[in-house]
Amino acid sequence: MDKIIVTGGAGFIGSHTVVELHEAGFIPVIVDDFSNSDRKVLDGLEAIMGTRPACYDVDCNDYAAFDEVFRKEGPVKGAIHFAAFKAVGESVQKPIQYFRNNLNSLVTLMDLMVKHGAPDLVFSSSCTVYGQPERLPVNERSPILPAQSPYGSTKQLCEEIIKQTTSVGQPLKAISLRYFNPIGAHPSANIGELPLGTPNNLIPFITQSAAGLRPPILVFGNDYNTPDGTCVRDYIHVVDLAKAHVKALQLLDRVEGKTHYDVFNVGTGRGNTVLEVIKAFEAATGVKLEYKIGPRRAGDVEKIYAEVDKSRDGLGWKAELSLEQGLGDAWRWQQKLLQKA
Ligand code: WQD
Repeated sequence: MDKIIVTGGAGFIGSHTVVELHEAGFIPVIVDDFSNSDRKVLDGLEAIMGTRPACYDVDCNDYAAFDEVFRKEGPVKGAIHFAAFKAVGESVQKPIQYFRNNLNSLVTLMDLMVKHGAPDLVFSSSCTVYGQPERLPVNERSPILPAQSPYGSTKQLCEEIIKQTTSVGQPLKAISLRYFNPIGAHPSANIGELPLGTPNNLIPFITQSAAGLRPPILVFGNDYNTPDGTCVRDYIHVVDLAKAHVKALQLLDRVEGKTHYDVFNVGTGRGNTVLEVIKAFEAATGVKLEYKIGPRRAGDVEKIYAEVDKSRDGLGWKAELSLEQGLGDAWRWQQKLLQKA
């Protein structure tokens, strides 16, 4: 069974991917410094997997400590790199920390993968690399427009670093997965999106407002050129997203030769407005949501959703779970958190 290092494996998408790796017969090894995740996630993973995944409390920027993980766990087949700072707004306040952490952690990982002969890399990228697309849906050949934030720049720069490193013959085979908007939680409600501080994203705001932990949702603008004036996004269930990582590793394992690079959109191919999401949450949960219309949020893209043909044909993957299932799973997770509080 192939061993895969999962950096940021205690995070929202990382933890769900650890489950799917285990189910697919891989051995996931978590490397996480818990700067934006909670050790309690390991209990949730053990409850789902029936075994506790190996986990190292290590910062990916710490070369010596990370090297020790590769040495102890070797041979390692590859890695999925989730560990990064990911708040768009925060990146505008702390650009240097974002460039240092997000770029250096990737470079350190790639250095160690080459050193220890672990060739297969899956990189957590983002639809933010597309900026505000002129044409929709966006596909992988759509132009990469100037990033709207330092966070978006780090994703573009990391993709370029991987592309160039593989193109000059370093023994790495890599895939960048461009996520759209991850939502939901594992149906067991044993893992989900942890609310560390004020949420950055819509769905945690919705579930916390529905739980009475926050005031009514503020909808950031309803004067956009969309069906009901609110922004459009492609909301993908985190379990579907996690499965795309397994498909990417299985594709890399089949690739001949010592180098490879490719990019795939990971979305549903459907767009929904903010108000449609609010209505879908009410339909999925029976919980009435209060909301107010506020001003636009700086940096918001008006509308974006994915063309997913390449992922279907190239990865053999497509999203199976609906928006309502994602919202229902997010709500069940929020209720579980309330019980534990
Ligand atoms: C979604 C929509 C808001 C909160 C995120 C991540 C980014 C990237 C892509 C990973 C927008 C609206 C939100 C609220 C609102 N993911 N909204 N009221 O901005 O698309 O980006 O996914 O790389 O890192 O940040 O997601 O959930 O913040 O916003 O009206 O209280 O909901 O305007 O239209 P976004 P989001």
